[in-house]
Amino acid sequence: MKLIRSIDELRAQLRGQNRTAFVPTMGNLHEGHLSLVRLARQHGDPVVTSIFVNPLQFGPGEDFERYPRTLDADIEKLQKENVYVVFAPTERDLYPQPQEYRVQPPGGMGDMLEGEFRPGFFQGVCTVVMKLMVCAQPRVAVFGKKDYQQLMIVREMCKQFAMPTDVVAGETIRDCDGLALSSRNRFLTPEERVEAPMLYRLLNQIRDKILSGEKDIQGIERRAFSKLIDRGWQPDYISVRKQADLRSPTAQEVDAGKLVVVAAARLGNTRLIDNLEV
Ligand code: PAF
Repeated sequence: MKLIRSIDELRAQLRGQNRTAFVPTMGNLHEGHLSLVRLARQHGDPVVTSIFVNPLQFGPGEDFERYPRTLDADIEKLQKENVYVVFAPTERDLYPQPQEYRVQPPGGMGDMLEGEFRPGFFQGVCTVVMKLMVCAQPRVAVFGKKDYQQLMIVREMCKQFAMPTDVVAGETIRDCDGLALSSRNRFLTPEERVEAPMLYRLLNQIRDKILSGEKDIQGIERRAFSKLIDRGWQPDYISVRKQADLRSPTAQEVDAGKLVVVAAARLGNTRLIDNLEV
């Protein structure tokens, strides 16, 4: 496995490869990331992983400074997965000059849900993903379903720019109590860690209600939101959406299925997001 810092070196190392499978990450790797690496292996060869905590996707007051950086441990994990190249540029390597050209996702999809509560987030994600893909030229790139909206936006970006990269979705990996694995889970206090799986339990309760034929979606959303507040969370949203475009479903669309329940909520100082397909 090769650790590469510079764009030029990455290009040289991957020259001639036309089946590269790419897994972009911000490091602090856990089983969720490693499952994406294993999925990448099924779709291409060589497997390339990037580790870069992208400042463009963090807003003022977000956790860019305290985002866990654990490069040595990450490298060890990727070595065991037989990754061919780890691309871990510094900020100067990836953004040698201020990144003034940016990729702006469209208003509807980019401004709702995560986009509403993290303005500029998807612009930062799309810009770095585009740049990383230009550097690595992957045939396939793997993104986790945990960041459902990110996956959809990146997939649409690749499609609309006719990029030669297929976006493959990896399932969310959970702890045995249901909490979706996330690098941010390490910020939870022991008490918060006990409470945290509540978010997934709530998503399941909502799914069960929909499947049992309950029609008042807004009522379901309101009650779930209140429940989180009562338990000490600060929810941003908990909402039933269509898988296809993340818009709210009409009554007929609820009947047709293909929904996803999406949620984001703060527990203490930690913001958790999760979702569940229905
Ligand atoms: O999901 C992430 O870890 C990041 O948003 C990504 C896709 C690596 C871009 O920085």
